[in-house]
Amino acid sequence: MAQSLNSLEALYQAFDGMSVEGGWHRRTPALWPEPRKNFVPFRWRYADVKPILDAAGRLVDHAMADRRNLTMTNPVQGNLYATVRTMVAAYQLIKPGETADAHRHTPNALRIILEGRGTFTVVNGVRVEMRPGDVLLTPSWAWHSHSSNGTDDCYWVDVLDVPMVHLMEGMFFERHPDKLESRVADADSSPIAFRWEDSVGRLEKAATPANGMAEREIQLGDPALRTVALHVQRFGADFKSELFRTTANSLFTVIRGSGRTWVDGEAIEWSMGDVIAIPAWRAYRHEVDTESFMVRASDEPVMRAIGMLREEVLPAQPEAQRRDASGVVL
Ligand SMILES: [Fe+2]
Repeated sequence: MAQSLNSLEALYQAFDGMSVEGGWHRRTPALWPEPRKNFVPFRWRYADVKPILDAAGRLVDHAMADRRNLTMTNPVQGNLYATVRTMVAAYQLIKPGETADAHRHTPNALRIILEGRGTFTVVNGVRVEMRPGDVLLTPSWAWHSHSSNGTDDCYWVDVLDVPMVHLMEGMFFERHPDKLESRVADADSSPIAFRWEDSVGRLEKAATPANGMAEREIQLGDPALRTVALHVQRFGADFKSELFRTTANSLFTVIRGSGRTWVDGEAIEWSMGDVIAIPAWRAYRHEVDTESFMVRASDEPVMRAIGMLREEVLPAQPEAQRRDASGVVL
């Protein structure tokens, strides 16, 4: 065989049958100078999604309550699921009297409650009420279920690290053999529940973050989950942040207020309940109209653990200067 490999063409033909590729002959490069712009910045508007979720509440069977959610699929070509590379977000609705059966999975999950009272989550046998502004954690492999005994429809934003688990091939999932955990104790405070009033109280005394991306900022947990960090940010009316980029992928959920986030020279308008995806290494800044609160979920703990967290505050630039000569957004 070696004798017949006397031309590059013959060499490349030989590659095909052996699942090898020459490092000088790659069809796509393996290394590049800085993070590529794969996933795109995007905003999901709660006001647009809510009627669809309500319709799903009427049309999709109650037994599917744990899956009756709307996944925020990043609109980059070829993507079918993830919101940013490592995380997925979804809007979920639980109606009065409904129960989502207990299950557990290796992906970490959290919920950011938008509206409605009278809904409870049970995590490893501890039942806590979920109220607007609260953030509830479901760590990897913890049993969890939800139920509503109130009169409100309850809406929340789920964030999970499922796309990262897919990448790392670590997925395990199972349903509880008895549908629900049999021993359940009620608790108002729990390490898995961050109450809105506590966050507001802590923000009163919190410092301005060093990167200038909020007026005040606190972290929930340290970090909240092994793969996901949570920060609650407060912005006074007319607040303007620095221009910043980080290798961490971020998902912002607007708890209250309105404004816009500039990314790559484009303004993304937002208001209560909206979710904004800011993929890694996109320079962004916030411009707030009314006093606002956002919860930022990011993969910072993962990036930090593997030595790949890079962050920088950039010099402020007029938006027009961030386009090249042909008008392409840089
Ligand atoms: Fe789950």
